[in-house]
Amino acid sequence: MPAKVIEQLKSIYGDKGEEIRLFYSPGRVNLIGEHTDYNGGYVFPCTLDFGTYMAIRMRNDDRVLLTSLNFDLKVETSINNLVYDKKDDWANYPKGVLKVLQDEGHQLKGFEAVFEGNIPNGAGLSSSASIELVTAVALNEVLNLNIDRIKLVKLCQKAENTFVGVNCGIMDQFAVGMGKEDYAIFLKCDTLEYSYVPLNLSGYKIVISNTNKRRGLQDSKYNERRSQCEKALSYLKKELNVDNLGQVTAEEFEKYKYLIPDDVLVKRARHVVTEDERVLLAVNALKNNDIKEFGKLMIESHNSLRDDYEVTGKELDTLVDEALKLDFVIGSRMTGAGFGGCTVSLVKEEYVDDFVNIVSKGYEEKIGYAPSMYVTGVGDGAKEIKE
Ligand code: GLA
Repeated sequence: MPAKVIEQLKSIYGDKGEEIRLFYSPGRVNLIGEHTDYNGGYVFPCTLDFGTYMAIRMRNDDRVLLTSLNFDLKVETSINNLVYDKKDDWANYPKGVLKVLQDEGHQLKGFEAVFEGNIPNGAGLSSSASIELVTAVALNEVLNLNIDRIKLVKLCQKAENTFVGVNCGIMDQFAVGMGKEDYAIFLKCDTLEYSYVPLNLSGYKIVISNTNKRRGLQDSKYNERRSQCEKALSYLKKELNVDNLGQVTAEEFEKYKYLIPDDVLVKRARHVVTEDERVLLAVNALKNNDIKEFGKLMIESHNSLRDDYEVTGKELDTLVDEALKLDFVIGSRMTGAGFGGCTVSLVKEEYVDDFVNIVSKGYEEKIGYAPSMYVTGVGDGAKEIKE
C-alpha cells in the first residue's frame, strides 16, 4: 500500500520529479474506559497495526489537491478558503486540520496528497482521527512547523469539534497520535497525564468484531449522553467540589447520588464513575499479568455500557454474548461510542480461527447479516515512513 500511494500521486498529479514524502497513522481500539474521556476520566486505548497512508508533495501556490483511493472523490481547494463543505465528505478532515493550523498562525502552502487506508469507516476504530493525525504530522514535518505531538493531538481534536462539528473527547486523537508498538496508553483525560503500559496478553490476541450495522443516530445520541453527564454533575456539585465526573469516587457517588433527581441521570453517572474505577483495576491487573481479571473487567464494562449508559443495542450485545459462550474468550466488550461499530475480545491465540467462524455464524443467524473480523497487533502511532 505505501508504494502504491506514491505511485498514484505521480499518476494523478503528474511526475514532476519533486520530493514526495510518505506518512502513516493507525486506527485505535479502546480496551477499557468508555465514555469517560469527555468526563475527565481514564481511558486505556492502543493503536492498531493498520491505518491510513498519505503521500504528500508541496506546491508553490495556494492549491490543495486531495485524493483518497478509498473513495471515488477528488477535492481541490485553496489554502485561502478553508470552509466545511458537506460534499467534500472525508476531505473535511484534512481541511479541518489545515484550518486549525492556520488559525494558530502557521503559514501554510499548497500541496498534493493521496490517501489510502484500511480502517473500516464509521466502525468506531477512529478512521477520522487517523486521517486528521496523518495530515497534521505530515504538514508539521514537511513545513517544519515544530509543533509538539500533544499539541498536534489537541489541534486535531479541535478540527473535529469545530470544523467537522463532532463533539468528541480527546481519546481517539491522543491514541492515534501517541500510540506505541506493543504498548497501551493509560491516559487521564482532564490533565492528559499518561503512561505506556506493556501489552503483554499472555497468549491472548485482540480480535475486533464489526457489527456492520449501518450508521444511525450516533452523533445525536453521543451528544445526548454528554449533556446527561453534565446535568448529573451539576447536581452532585451541590455537595462535591469537583470539576468533572472523573473526579467523583464510587464511594462519593453512592453517598451523594440522592442529589440527582432523575433515575436515567443516576445511571449515566454511575457508569462513568464505575468505569473509571474499572480502568484503574484493569491497568493494575495487566501490570500483575492477571489477564483473567482484565477480561472480567472488560465484561463488567460492557454490562455497564449496556444497562447504565445504554449505548450497546442488539448487534453489539449479540457479538459479546456469542463471544462469551466460548471458553477460550477471556473478555469481550463494545469499544468506541457504541450504538453499532465494533467489539473487542481477548481470544486465546490458537483458537482465533474458531472464534472468527463460530462468532460470525452465531451473529449472522441472529442478526441476519455477517460481521467482519480483524485480528490485530498493537502498532505504532502516527509517523513518517522512510524507506
Ligand atoms: C468516540 C469519541 C471518543 C470517546 C468514545 C467513547 O470514539 O470520539 O472521544 O468519547 O467515543 O469512549
